[in-house]
Amino acid sequence: MLVNGQPTRTIWLDPDDPSKVCIIDQRHLPHDFKIIRLESLTDTANAISDMKVRGAPLIGATAAFGIYLALLSAGQENADHLLDEAVELLNKTRPTAVNLAWATRRCQTAIRTVKDPGAKIETALQTARDICREDIDICYRIGQHGLPILEALATRKPAGPLNILTHCNAGWLATVDWGTATAPIYQAHQKGMDIHVWVDETRPRNQGASLTAWELGQEGVPHTVITDNMGGLLMQQGKVDLVITGTDRTTSTGDVANKIGTYLKALAAFDNNIPFYVALPTTSIDWQLKEGSDIPIEERSAEEVKYIQGWHEDEGAIKKVLITPPDSPALNYGFDITPARLVTGFITEKGVCEASEGGLKD
Ligand code: MRU
Repeated sequence: MLVNGQPTRTIWLDPDDPSKVCIIDQRHLPHDFKIIRLESLTDTANAISDMKVRGAPLIGATAAFGIYLALLSAGQENADHLLDEAVELLNKTRPTAVNLAWATRRCQTAIRTVKDPGAKIETALQTARDICREDIDICYRIGQHGLPILEALATRKPAGPLNILTHCNAGWLATVDWGTATAPIYQAHQKGMDIHVWVDETRPRNQGASLTAWELGQEGVPHTVITDNMGGLLMQQGKVDLVITGTDRTTSTGDVANKIGTYLKALAAFDNNIPFYVALPTTSIDWQLKEGSDIPIEERSAEEVKYIQGWHEDEGAIKKVLITPPDSPALNYGFDITPARLVTGFITEKGVCEASEGGLKD
């Protein structure tokens, strides 16, 4: 999607030096668009755990490039052993998004089947590139399948824009391009539909306020940032026509792990008879798990709750400030579980389905 009018992706091989991988350091957005280079497995693991890159599909794509960098720096010695170590390290960086383990498993399988040590590096790079290329296609198709839902709801509206509420950032910054929840939104906007997006700020890291608002703005999509607690009131006032979120892991029965606060939006949508859709690539489905309660929930540092980061206008710099009493403890679960019964449907690259075991199998 566009950054300052230029089509941009979230991750790419440095065209001047194929031993480096370029990413957007998302910690500085929306104030600073900073591209950094990953040079090693350690750089990659840190980029994922420090959330320089984040969002389930992008974490998977980044990990795939991390495996390539690990093999590249190790040369041809001991490649399979290093491969296993790299996979183990990367899988531990963030526990909830299942795309991470999916991507590392895919790389591991592809690389292990190649015997020639030099060719293993080539296979690692090719697999990382394939994962990125496929992710773009998958997200585009999520958009194609989601668009008719938006069009149908819009035709039922007597006047005004179609108001879509989204939580966290399931936009192109969370994928390689297009996004999941945002793919139907971008395609509707490109078709000239009258749409408006309510953007949940998404405390504590504010992915909505910092990332979703920024990327929608870059594409010219009308939007308004709201506090996380406002969605319920807007729904009661009839100002939300549908909710679309992403997911980090969805069980085989349709329970959805997504950014903390998603469950409360689903409850409010259910109470107000508002469609609540989850947009996901099928790589976010964990076919091994049935119950949402079995999904590992990431617990992050209390510092993320106690401090808030933003642009200091007088100093012209990004600053962090304490917003709690210094000694108050804080708790920071990153994700919650929305039970399948609260989800109207899944928008996937293969089509739209019911949020149930049967729906997903079909
Ligand atoms: O902690 P984050 O920013 O990685 O969380 C991201 C989300 O919860 C997204 O909604 C999810 O990964 C789906 S992204 C296409």
